[in-house]
Amino acid sequence: MKKIALITGITGQDGSYLARHLLDLGYEVHGVKRRSSSFNTSRIDGIYEDVHSQHVRFFLHYGDLTDSSNLISLIAKIRPTEIYNLAAQSHVQVSFEMPEYTANVDALGTLRILEAMRLLGLSQTRFYQASTSELYGEVLQTPQNEDTPFNPRSPYAVAKLYGFYITKNYREAYGMFAVNGILFNHESPVRGETFVTRKITMAIARMLYGLQECLYLGNLDAQRDYGHAKDYVQAMHLILQHSQPVDYVVASGQTMSIREFSARCFAQVGVILEFQGEGLDEKGVVVGFKPSALFKEAMPFALHQVVIRVDPRYFRPTEVDLLLGDPSKIERELGWKRQYGIEELITDMLGSDLALAKKQALLA
Ligand code: NAP
Ligand code: GDD
Repeated sequence: MKKIALITGITGQDGSYLARHLLDLGYEVHGVKRRSSSFNTSRIDGIYEDVHSQHVRFFLHYGDLTDSSNLISLIAKIRPTEIYNLAAQSHVQVSFEMPEYTANVDALGTLRILEAMRLLGLSQTRFYQASTSELYGEVLQTPQNEDTPFNPRSPYAVAKLYGFYITKNYREAYGMFAVNGILFNHESPVRGETFVTRKITMAIARMLYGLQECLYLGNLDAQRDYGHAKDYVQAMHLILQHSQPVDYVVASGQTMSIREFSARCFAQVGVILEFQGEGLDEKGVVVGFKPSALFKEAMPFALHQVVIRVDPRYFRPTEVDLLLGDPSKIERELGWKRQYGIEELITDMLGSDLALAKKQALLA
């Protein structure tokens, strides 16, 4: 049977990696993009340029998760064999400012797709829901696995909780192949620029090329389980190929604080960083230098220079303090394996941001 995938959120980080992965596997790939007043396809433009023979199997359609009739007509026209619902208002802090919109897209948007599939009688179509480790929130067990109870801590997580359970309910009520991947944080060179990892790698690159003075962060104590988006989209595909509809946790099994992630990033460009002080007065200070494989140009930082400061504007009303996932079920049952460890992820992100900053500095 011809494999036809429909990806919502195609213009996002995961959508762009998943589209490439599925095209490589021979799929016809359809993506839903939102109408925007400026171009919002930079992450997928390369598919037309690089993957010369593949772009004829790649189609974009205008759509929005808040528009049922649009989703019904797209699904009826495309008749996908697999739907990956990656579209979301995905920023946790923004969800405190836009709770209703977040619920509309992340919760009801999921329902709208499932209802479209049911009404259209697409009984053979498989559905993947982008669920999240944010569901565990103020965690009730560590590490978190498929049996850990949920305890969400933000409007985003509460909306995604609805998405999780409505997916499970349609599976149980209507026998649909509808599944959740509960993915822990995954990053990449095309990670959104307001998520903390990318904010850090971009700021380091910009500081090294004289484009920025200091990096302002919020809660440095929060701990996250980080992987590379390239590895995690492969897990999404594997989950939909299983003989049974089963929900899986996708994680690295390691966790680190934002403080440690920052220090590791600085270390890769040859800067030894120490955190001094406490609370709002905590600072990231340069205390030494070492050779770097990534950055070989003249080092602009001085000893004792402050490169990180805390800004309470980035604190959240309720925080998720610790996420640490247990990926053993997907590794054991589906043979999922990660290619990227944390250091490889950081190298990939910094390498890309250094190249971008160098270009910007030349133009400045
Ligand atoms: P992302 O980069 O923020 O991408 C989100 C995508 O959703 C973008 O294409 C965005 O379009 C689209 N979108 C937003 N609102 C929409 C709407 N109303 N209608 C249609 N499309 C809409 O997110 P990501 O990091 O790739 O994550 C993909 C999915 O996995 C999300 O559902 C996220 O919540 C979930 N997730 C992510 C992680 C992670 O660590 N990355 C972990 C667990 C779960 P624009 O480009 O036009 O904004
Ligand atoms: N964004 C941001 N900006 N976060 C900061 C900052 C800052 O300046 N300083 C500290 N943090 C802390 C946040 O408070 C949070 O504890 C942690 O860094 C990670 O924040 P984000 O990078 O915004 O990601 P997230 O963990 O809240 O959410 C991401 O991962 C989820 C999976 O666990 C998003 O991709 C969600 O869509 C995803 O579901």
